[in-house]
Amino acid sequence: MSFNKGFLLTELNKPTDWDNLPDMAKKHVPIVEVPEKTKAKEPFAVKIKVGGIDGVEHPNTLGHWINWVELYAGKRLISKVEFLPEVTDGYVATLNVTLNDNATLITRAFCNLHGVWEGKEKKIVVE
Ligand SMILES: [Fe+2]
Repeated sequence: MSFNKGFLLTELNKPTDWDNLPDMAKKHVPIVEVPEKTKAKEPFAVKIKVGGIDGVEHPNTLGHWINWVELYAGKRLISKVEFLPEVTDGYVATLNVTLNDNATLITRAFCNLHGVWEGKEKKIVVE
C-alpha cells in the first residue's frame, strides 16, 4: 500500500516503512509505550498517544478529530477509549492491563475524515 495518496477511508491504514512516514501517518498512527516484560496477573501501564510524531499533531475540531483508539492483545479487543472534539486534549490514554500469556499488542485509531490507522505492533513477554 502506498501512502503517497494519503489515506484509505474504507480500509485499514497501516504504515510499512516506519523510517519514512508521511505527515498523514505521523498525525494519525497511535504510538504505544509498554514494558518489554511483565508478570502474569500483575497490572501494568499501557500508554497510548495518537499522532504527534515529529511534532505533527492531529487537528482537534468539531469537523475533524480522532474519535477513538482501540487496544488489542492479538485479535482480542481489550480496551477502547473515545475522544470528544475540542474537549479532550492531546489524544492520550493510559490503561492498566493484565495479561496471562505473551501477547502482541496492537492499537488502532479512528479519524472521522481519514479512517482507521494501526500503530506498530508491540510484543510483550509475560513471565
Ligand atoms: Fe484526520
